[in-house]
Amino acid sequence: MNILLLGSGGREHAMAWKIAQSPMLNQLFIAPGNPGTSSVGKNLPIAADDFNAIKLAVLENSIDIVLVGPEDPLVKGVVDFFRDDSEIKHIPVIGPDKFGAQLEGSKDFSKQFMFRNNIPTAGYLSVSSENIDEGIAFLAKLNPPYVLKADGLAAGKGVLILNDLDETINELKLMLNGKFGSASKIVVIEEFLSGIECSVFVITDGINYKILPEAKDYKRIGEGDTGLNTGGMGAVSPVSFANDEFMKKVEERIIKPTVEGLYEEGIIYKGFIFFGLIKVNGEPVTIEYNARMGDPETEVVMLRLKSDFVELLDGVAKGNLNEKTVEFDERTAVTVMLVSGGYPEDYEKGKEISGLSKIENSIVFHAGTKLLDGKIVTNGGRVLAISSYGNSKEEALEQSFKNAQLVNYDKKYFRSDIGFDL
Ligand code: AMP
Ligand code: GLY
Repeated sequence: MNILLLGSGGREHAMAWKIAQSPMLNQLFIAPGNPGTSSVGKNLPIAADDFNAIKLAVLENSIDIVLVGPEDPLVKGVVDFFRDDSEIKHIPVIGPDKFGAQLEGSKDFSKQFMFRNNIPTAGYLSVSSENIDEGIAFLAKLNPPYVLKADGLAAGKGVLILNDLDETINELKLMLNGKFGSASKIVVIEEFLSGIECSVFVITDGINYKILPEAKDYKRIGEGDTGLNTGGMGAVSPVSFANDEFMKKVEERIIKPTVEGLYEEGIIYKGFIFFGLIKVNGEPVTIEYNARMGDPETEVVMLRLKSDFVELLDGVAKGNLNEKTVEFDERTAVTVMLVSGGYPEDYEKGKEISGLSKIENSIVFHAGTKLLDGKIVTNGGRVLAISSYGNSKEEALEQSFKNAQLVNYDKKYFRSDIGFDL
């Protein structure tokens, strides 16, 4: 089987690493990939959202399955593009179409979906410039802190959590006036939920689903979970509080009604659903959906997935995921992100990375690196995901932290408290 994976981050390197282990694989291509993915497959110099170039590559390389890593190509309609083209419509693309990707691409859409399907989530009101007064009245009835979310994709920056009502009203107006461009033409105001978060991942063929190992990511830049939000500074799996009882509730109350709701509403959804959950008084509540796997969660999910990932992808493509089994590795997996100094604000790129060859007993997934004159240099905010197994979380973390010290580049930073229980 020939597989084309779209994307270029740590998530894609982790997926590529896992795919490359499959006996079902003939050739793996990654578009555009990074220096890490090139060690397990062939990188193609094609942007993940250049659909015409992707089509040519698919035909030229006899691709059997296209796997989409990031949300961008999904929200832009890569699945619809394939479906509408007679030359490639028979080639399965793993990911939802543009309509289904609204689970991630529109907070208003996903909140309406959750309410229609009785899926536990925070109360909300969607506001546009038309009903701003209603929005202010809704806010006035809530207790602080106040949660404002840009409806559309805003590069991970579209959620504001504020304590002061006047400031919140002001921010609401700024958002509706284009603070996040067209993404905040509609703003979702939500009740604040207090609890501990985790991520649960499901792969579905539209009818059947399989639950993948759950994970917890550490979003803030600073130790003790302080400072600005990032894409994720590290992750662990399993999650200690996501015990069998909790996961059963997640499956019955959230996963099943989501997959069934999609099907009943005629949304053909073949791909991943990422459930951003919060445990409130012992009960799972849905914070958000994403239409893709998480990053850096995938870096630990792939480590803990014992089963053949390509078998699962094939099950999605053929619609027989019910015939597949998913086995988890009993060990703990962790990943620690090495980032560029300054991230998630301005940072420099192009710093030479040394010490990679000294790493032992960890798997290094490249997130933001590139090859320049034969050297690997930094090329993003998140640079490398140092991922390890352990018989305990502590053991796995010790290994990742030890190796995190061995890699160097100018202004390297990582959080040395990944894995702590919030
Ligand atoms: P989202 O993009 O919707 O996942 O929001 C980003 C982050 O904001 C979440 O991971 C939570 O930490 C926080 N958050 C979002 N919605 C709420 C809420 N209703 N109550 C408390 N925290 C929230
Ligand atoms: N780590 C969170 C995300 O991928 O959205």
